[in-house]
Amino acid sequence: MKSLTATAFAALASFSAAQNSTNSNTSINGTFSTSGPHNVRFDTGTYGPPVEEYHYYYDQWPIGLAASRTGRVFACYTRGTYAYTLGEIINQTAEAAYPSMELNTPEGGLYTTTNGIQFGSNNQTAFISVQALYITPDDTLWVLDTGRPTIDESQAPSMPYAAPGGPKLVSINLSNNSIARTYTFPANVHYPDSYMNDLRFDMRPNVTESGGGIAYIVDSSNEGRTGFIMVDLATGESWRQLTQHPSTLRTYADVPSYNGIPFYLRQKGSPLGFQQEGLDGAELSLYGDVMYYSPLTSDYLYSIETQYLQANPNNDTLSAKRAFDNVKNLGERGGNANGFSSDSLGNVYMLMPTNNAIYIYNDTTLQAEPYVRDPRIIWPDSANVGFDGYIYFNINQLPYQPDWNDGVDGRQYPGLILRSKLPDGAGKNMILGASTNGTA
Ligand SMILES: *[C@@H]1O[C@H](CO)[C@@H](O)[C@H](O)[C@H]1NC(C)=O
Ligand SMILES: *[C@@H]1O[C@H](CO)[C@@H](O)[C@H](O)[C@H]1NC(C)=O
Ligand SMILES: *[C@@H]1O[C@H](CO)[C@@H](O)[C@H](O)[C@H]1NC(C)=O
Ligand SMILES: *[C@@H]1O[C@H](CO)[C@@H](O)[C@H](O)[C@H]1NC(C)=O
Ligand SMILES: *[C@@H]1O[C@H](CO)[C@@H](O)[C@H](O)[C@H]1NC(C)=O
Ligand SMILES: *[C@@H]1O[C@H](CO)[C@@H](O)[C@H](O)[C@H]1NC(C)=O
Ligand SMILES: *[C@@H]1O[C@H](CO)[C@@H](O)[C@H](O)[C@H]1NC(C)=O
Ligand SMILES: *[C@@H]1O[C@H](CO)[C@@H](O)[C@H](O)[C@H]1NC(C)=O
Ligand SMILES: *[C@@H]1O[C@H](CO)[C@@H](O)[C@H](O)[C@H]1NC(C)=O
Ligand SMILES: *[C@@H]1O[C@H](CO)[C@@H](O)[C@H](O)[C@H]1NC(C)=O
Repeated sequence: MKSLTATAFAALASFSAAQNSTNSNTSINGTFSTSGPHNVRFDTGTYGPPVEEYHYYYDQWPIGLAASRTGRVFACYTRGTYAYTLGEIINQTAEAAYPSMELNTPEGGLYTTTNGIQFGSNNQTAFISVQALYITPDDTLWVLDTGRPTIDESQAPSMPYAAPGGPKLVSINLSNNSIARTYTFPANVHYPDSYMNDLRFDMRPNVTESGGGIAYIVDSSNEGRTGFIMVDLATGESWRQLTQHPSTLRTYADVPSYNGIPFYLRQKGSPLGFQQEGLDGAELSLYGDVMYYSPLTSDYLYSIETQYLQANPNNDTLSAKRAFDNVKNLGERGGNANGFSSDSLGNVYMLMPTNNAIYIYNDTTLQAEPYVRDPRIIWPDSANVGFDGYIYFNINQLPYQPDWNDGVDGRQYPGLILRSKLPDGAGKNMILGASTNGTA
C-alpha cells in the first residue's frame, strides 16, 4: 500500500452550495479535463469551504486536539515510545510537553510485567497514553488517559491491560496550568481491557443531582466490552450503560476503503484480520438531550436520549434494560465514521476516513449531508470546534501506519491540523456549559 502515492490534485477549495438536501446536483464534485481530445468528467476530490493548514506535526503523530477560549491549541498522542503524550502547540511546526515533561513521565515506566502479563502503569498523576482532549466552555482542559500504552511498536505490537489508577480523566485549569481534579474508575466500570476513546460534557447544574455536571466517555474496547462510561463530576461516581449493545460493537469483518484501497488489518506477526474498534464517535445534541454515536467500523449512525445514559444502574436496576430498549438506529450515513463534533446550530459533524471528508448529520432532514472534502484529509482523527467559528481537525495518515501494513511505516511527516470555517456563522455550543453562578 505504501508504494501508492496520493493523487496530486491541486487542493483548491471554495465556498459552495454543498449544503443541499438532495444529492441530485452532480457538480458535487466533478470537473472537466481539457488536457485530452475528449472533455471528460473526473472527481476533483474537493467540495465545501476552504481547508486551511493550521499546524504541521513533525515529531509525533497526533490523535486528539482541543482549542481553548484564548486560542491555545493542545494535542495528544497515544504512545509507545514518544517522549510525551500531552502537548501544546507552540508555533506552526512545533509542540511542547504540557503541562510539564515530568507529568508526561510516569515513574517506573509506561507499563510493568507481573508473572509474564503486562499491565499499564497505575500512576494516577502522570499521563501514560492520552487518547482524547476536550475543552468545556469554562476553558477547562479535560484529558482522557487510557492507561494502556502500545508496547513494541516496531515488532508485533500489543497493548497491556489497564491497571486501576492508570486510566483517568483529568481536568486542568488553563489559567494557571495546574491539575484541578483527577477521576479514576472502579474495576466494574473500567475493565482491564477497556479503552476510553473520546469524551463529551454537559456542565449544566441540573443534569445531575449533585450539580457538578456529567462526562460521557466512550469505551471502544477492541476486546469487545464496549459501551458508555458516565462520570458525575461532583461526586466522582462513575457507571456504564449500553455495554456490548450491538450499536456499540464493531461490525463483523468490516472492510472499509481508504484512498480507494480496500483495507484489511495486516498486523505484523498476526493473521489477516479486520478492524476491531467499537464505539468511537459520540456527540451531544444542541440541548444535550440526545447522544449521537457509532462504532468506528459501522456505516450506521445511532442515538439515545441522554436520560438513559444518566440513569445510574447502582440504584436503578432496570436502567440497563431501559437504555437497551431506547437505542435508535438512524440508518446508514454513507461510510464509516471516526470522531464527531458539533456547533452552536446543532450540526453534528462526522469525520469520514473512508471518504476523505467531513459529513454533517441534520436532524431535520434526517440525512447525512456533505460539509467538506479534500485530498489532504487522509484519516481525519479528532475534530474540535473552537471558540472562533472554525472546526479544527487532526490528520494523521493512519492507513499508512505500521500496525495496518505488516509493520511497514508509510506515514510521512508532517501530520496536520486543518481547519475550516463553520457554516452559517456557527460557533462553539456554549449551552452545555455551567451557568455563570454554576458549581462546576
Ligand atoms: C450545482 O452546484 C454548483 C456548485 O455549487 C452550482 O454552481 C450550480 O448552480 C448547482 N446547480 C444547480 C442545478 O443547482
Ligand atoms: C438542492 O439542489 C437542487 C438541485 O440542484 C435544487 O433544485 C434545490 O433547490 C437545492 N435545495 C436547497 C435546499 O438548496
Ligand atoms: C469542485 O472542485 C473544484 C476543484 O477543486 C472547485 O474549484 C469547485 O469549487 C468544487 N465545487 C464544489 C461544488 O465544491
Ligand atoms: C518553533 O519552535 C521550535 C521549538 O522551540 C523552534 O525550534 C522553531 O524555530 C520555531 N519555529 C518558528 C517558525 O518559530
Ligand atoms: C507518578 O509519576 C510521577 C512523575 O514521574 C511521580 O512524581 C509520582 O511519584 C508517581 N506516583 C507514584 C504513585 O508512583
Ligand atoms: C481557574 O483558575 C483561576 C485562577 O486560579 C480561577 O480564577 C478560576 O476560577 C479557575 N477556573 C475554574 C473553572 O475553576
Ligand atoms: C490553580 O487554580 C486552582 C483553581 O482552579 C487552585 O485550586 C489552585 O490552587 C491553583 N494552583 C496554582 C498553582 O496557582
Ligand atoms: C436545565 O437548565 C437549563 C438552563 O440552563 C434549562 O434550559 C433546562 O430546561 C433544564 N433542564 C431540566 C431537565 O430542568
Ligand atoms: C437514584 O439516585 C439518584 C440520586 O440520588 C436519585 O435522583 C434517583 O431518583 C434514584 N433512582 C432510583 C430508581 O432510586
Ligand atoms: C437542517 O436542514 C434544514 C432543512 O434544510 C435547514 O433549515 C437547517 O438549517 C439544517 N440544520 C442545520 C443545523 O444546518
